[in-house]
Amino acid sequence: MEYHNPVLLKESVDGLNVKPDGIYVDVTFGGGGHSKEILSRLNENGKLYAFDQDIDALGNALDDSRFTLIHENFRFIKRFLRFHGVKKVDGILADFGVSSHQFDVAERGFSTRFEADLDMRMNQNNTLSAFNVINEYEEEQLKNVLFQYGELRAAPAMARLVVEYRENEEPIVTSDQLKKVLGKFLPPRHANKVLAQIYQAIRIEVNQEIEVLKEFLLQTPELLNDNGRLSFISYHSLEDRLVKRFIRNGMFEGEPERDMFGNFEVPLKKVNGLIVPSKEEIKVNNRARSAKLRLAEKK
Ligand SMILES: C[S@@+](CC[C@H](N)C(=O)[O-])C[C@H]1O[C@@H](n2cnc3c(N)ncnc32)[C@H](O)[C@@H]1O
Repeated sequence: MEYHNPVLLKESVDGLNVKPDGIYVDVTFGGGGHSKEILSRLNENGKLYAFDQDIDALGNALDDSRFTLIHENFRFIKRFLRFHGVKKVDGILADFGVSSHQFDVAERGFSTRFEADLDMRMNQNNTLSAFNVINEYEEEQLKNVLFQYGELRAAPAMARLVVEYRENEEPIVTSDQLKKVLGKFLPPRHANKVLAQIYQAIRIEVNQEIEVLKEFLLQTPELLNDNGRLSFISYHSLEDRLVKRFIRNGMFEGEPERDMFGNFEVPLKKVNGLIVPSKEEIKVNNRARSAKLRLAEKK
């Protein structure tokens, strides 16, 4: 089975404005679709560093002397680039979220299609898994996860049911148990949609995706050379909002200081507006349907 079909491939790599002898970073290597495209635009002096925290992605490493794959979380981008002697780069690409491979391997627990143990860790060495979130989080924490990351209005009732079940019956170990416990929120007509929201919420929590994204974004401006580019693909409105605000304001909340002319003092400027996949792309790759690409340039 194909590891991953890259989304917005041309648009995102075009957005990097690749300089043939530049240094680039693909922080979400996965099956390497975007990395291969970047490499194809580099000459023999160009360099590409890639990150992926999933050990499965390492099997896709590209056999190319200009390429280095780093098995780490991109929240540590600055530290690990430094370790490789790199302080500045010409562009950073990110294609956030989960790969098709991660969804397709039943035992990883990412997909609503399969019965599996509750897991959902992108990095198999992490200690926090979906099991811990479902069985160990306080009711209030669980409610917040379901509400904020899953946008589920029934989050308080769902959290209550989960807590009652695990306290009065047994630990919730598998996805089928979880579906049974939350059965009354899964009427046949909406079951897939609601379940996808529940899974998404748990996955974002397990992988600390929002905190990681913020830490990562904050490091990017100082890593970029002047006119260096960011090209970021998000699949969740919370992620996209953070990316958008960071590009505009250089921060996530509030407004930045203004200079004496009343202009914001921000490190980045946006390039183009929001880019989304064409109907044709969505037809051949359903995963592309929620993708949102934003580009920015270091001032
Ligand atoms: C949507 S896929 C990327 C697919 C890739 N662009 C391609 O063309 O095959 C996201 C990948 O990023 C990895 N990933 C997600 N969050 C990460 C993080 N914080 N640090 C490192 N890797 C991460 C996942 O393990 C997954 O393999």
